[in-house]
Amino acid sequence: MACAAYAHAIIKNAGGRGFVYNSMKRSGWYENTVFYEIYVPSFCDGDGDGTGDLKGVISRIPYLRQLGISGIWLTPFYPSPRVDNGYDIRDYRNVDPAFGTLADFDMLLRKAHQAGIRVIIDMVLNHTSDLHPWFQESRRSAHSPYRDYYLWEKEIPCNWESFFDGSAWEYDDTAGMYYYHAFSRNQVCLNWSSPQVRRECADILRFWLDRGVDGFRLDVINFLKTDRGAFHADNPVENGVTRHVYDKNQKGIYEAIREISRVVHAYPGKYLLGEIGEDDLCLIKSYVGDGLLDSAFQFNLGSMEKLDAAFMADQMRRMEAEGVYPTLFFSSHDMRRHFNRLCGKDRTKAELLAVFLLTAKGIPFLYQGEEIPMEDVPVESLRDLKDIQGRYGYDKKLAEGESEEAAFLYARERSRDYSRGMVEWEREGDRDSLARAYRKLLDIRKRHLSLSMGEYGEIRQQDGLLYYQRIWEKEKIGVYLCFDGHSPELPHTDVLYEVMDGNGRTRGIMRYEQEIG
Ligand code: GLC
Repeated sequence: MACAAYAHAIIKNAGGRGFVYNSMKRSGWYENTVFYEIYVPSFCDGDGDGTGDLKGVISRIPYLRQLGISGIWLTPFYPSPRVDNGYDIRDYRNVDPAFGTLADFDMLLRKAHQAGIRVIIDMVLNHTSDLHPWFQESRRSAHSPYRDYYLWEKEIPCNWESFFDGSAWEYDDTAGMYYYHAFSRNQVCLNWSSPQVRRECADILRFWLDRGVDGFRLDVINFLKTDRGAFHADNPVENGVTRHVYDKNQKGIYEAIREISRVVHAYPGKYLLGEIGEDDLCLIKSYVGDGLLDSAFQFNLGSMEKLDAAFMADQMRRMEAEGVYPTLFFSSHDMRRHFNRLCGKDRTKAELLAVFLLTAKGIPFLYQGEEIPMEDVPVESLRDLKDIQGRYGYDKKLAEGESEEAAFLYARERSRDYSRGMVEWEREGDRDSLARAYRKLLDIRKRHLSLSMGEYGEIRQQDGLLYYQRIWEKEKIGVYLCFDGHSPELPHTDVLYEVMDGNGRTRGIMRYEQEIG
């Protein structure tokens, strides 16, 4: 029985159907914000130990400000054994010594705010590290007040698999029972039917809100286990692949998210962004709106497998038809970098995508280093395979009797190490760097509200050329992007931005089209 690897599943699921909603109401500051994802372990090394840390982030705030982004999403920086690079939290109210201290965090927040940059932090409420004191207490005794914090069963109740690979049930010698984990066995799922767990999580959110964060990115939030009864249904298996049906979107999930939303929105102006691991538009939509999430990540455009103007136009139209205000990104720490995946390392294509990201309708999320542009780091040997999802796959294949080579090839496909290399800041000033293009585009976006606030006018595509208009009050801006290498005749009047390829041919134009009225 096989289970599609996690990121892989998201990418496949994309199949053109994942949207994210921001309800029809557009009122929050976040809708005009350009976010920049900082994967803390590999963003910037501030203390010379070779890995990223909060001091490193602080040192780059002037750069980020100059770049022109207005929000940061910080991936987990909490104390953690880092089995899944921090998405396995051991202490929710502190900073991992490898990344700094709480004082560094406060300083980061202060400096970012002074620079006009808001900060949202990743919050993992679906699971804790197995080294979290709650779990250590929970496994020790059936009478522990913490026993009920996790999901213990005497026998394996169903066929559920981990999103990383292999069974989701792990036997614990100390407890003499099985516990449930949706990801690695070191990321133990919390029991969201427990009022005590909910109270603890609310307190954790308040702890960071009181410190002044501007919001949260809630990790895999529709996976919360809110219904113990669901354990009695097996997930369907089709062609050897498990479909995750009963282990997410459980009964009680909306109430849990409402509770989280009440806690967060009791603080005015805070932003609640959720990662919804889904490909069904209606389902994703249902998590966003008053009293729920402010927006949710969508993977339809971000995870497309090749640059395709027709596909992009189709997605844009569908989002329009559905009234979707999407999040826009092409790279993240869970997927391969789009410079490799979509652009084939072609700088012109990367620049065209930057134009799209910063002029199409939605909330852009840049991934660290895409503006340099950073490339995927190769995973050539077992030594390079650090990601837990890859390592799980490797062990699983060996256990199934595959050769080391076959196991490695399988694991390499699943590994998310590619996009997690240290950002090569020394390349920032290179002739080929895209940073100048991003800066200029961000500046244009700031000066022309139609690019952030505007509705779409026409959306068209033909022969690899994508064209769309953004309209706000009296302003109309037209964007022409030619992804497939030919250079059609494009209008060259009132040009705000032009993308030229290495042969001096125009491949993209953003132009001021007319004043209305
Ligand atoms: C999210 C994170 C991913 C992590 C997983 C489990 O999808 O983006 O990196 O492995 O949740 O916490």
